[in-house]
Amino acid sequence: MKELLQQLREAALKAILNADDAELEALRVRYLGKKGELTAILRQMGKLSAEERPAMGQLANQLRAEIEKAIDERRGELQKILLERKLERETLDVTLPGEKPKLGHKHPMYNVLDQIKDIFIGMGFEIVDGTEVELADYNFTKLNIDEGHPSREWTDTFYFTEDSRVLLRTQTSGMQIHAMETRKLPIRIIAPGRVYRKDEVDATHSPMFHQIEGMVIDKGVTMSDLKATLNLVVEKIYGEGTVTRFRPHHFPFTEPSCEMDIQCHKCGGKGCPTCKGEGWIEVLGAGMVHPKVLQGCGIDPDEYSGWAFGMGLERLAMGEYKINDLRLIFENDVRFLEQF
Ligand code: DAH
Repeated sequence: MKELLQQLREAALKAILNADDAELEALRVRYLGKKGELTAILRQMGKLSAEERPAMGQLANQLRAEIEKAIDERRGELQKILLERKLERETLDVTLPGEKPKLGHKHPMYNVLDQIKDIFIGMGFEIVDGTEVELADYNFTKLNIDEGHPSREWTDTFYFTEDSRVLLRTQTSGMQIHAMETRKLPIRIIAPGRVYRKDEVDATHSPMFHQIEGMVIDKGVTMSDLKATLNLVVEKIYGEGTVTRFRPHHFPFTEPSCEMDIQCHKCGGKGCPTCKGEGWIEVLGAGMVHPKVLQGCGIDPDEYSGWAFGMGLERLAMGEYKINDLRLIFENDVRFLEQF
């Protein structure tokens, strides 16, 4: 009987060692199951003497344990092999070309803004950022725009409060005041950003648009600095030799004030559709910072002077890219944007 057990052991262990997952279960049934080979051998225990029985019983139990262990081990081994194969199959080939994500597209207006920022940074200006929700004090009062001025009307300006104290800024000029109140002199800044006015949408109007404010405050700054700087900027944008003219104008926060035109770069001043037959294109408003404004910000107008300008960014971009309708700039139709 011992020999039978020994034969069973050898046969079982050998079979288990080479079995695959499905075969393992069959082997377990075959050797250890109720109708299995081990049970069949044990049935013959009756033939043994009472002295032999316990030893044989122990031997059989050991064999059962050994076969179970072998099955477990083989199962573990198979799982390991399976996992290895799976990992091998799922290995990433990092040398394969990837899928390119579709990148967005820079808005043409921001191309123009970047260009202008670069020009001014090159001249030692700093770019400053302001909030679009503003106090009437900064949007109007401190800029020498008194109560009762038409631009303060509720029909023109978006107010947040009944007392007309808080509003959506209608111009970036308030940034002049913020800069003078918070910065050390001398000051050289440009402040681009959104502004809001109660305008109906059409090909040239939008209730939201962008301005770029610029300002210099230093000792001995004059109107000729203003003209020289702006002429230089215009030449960088529109090309060397671009002709400008400065027309007298009125703004409450500058004195003297002017508007700057450029001679139409399309027709050279003869008159064409681009300049609407005028020969000139209005580009910006500017002037020498009003002494009252300086004083209101704690700057002595006898010691310091400055100049400022404000221009519309959309108009500039439309001119540069020959865009004929302002609405195209805000609609963000990629078919339009991708042309630039
Ligand atoms: N803020 C003015 C506007 O919206 C433009 C302007 C004019 C700005 C003269 C200035 C300036 O800084 O000096 O029409």
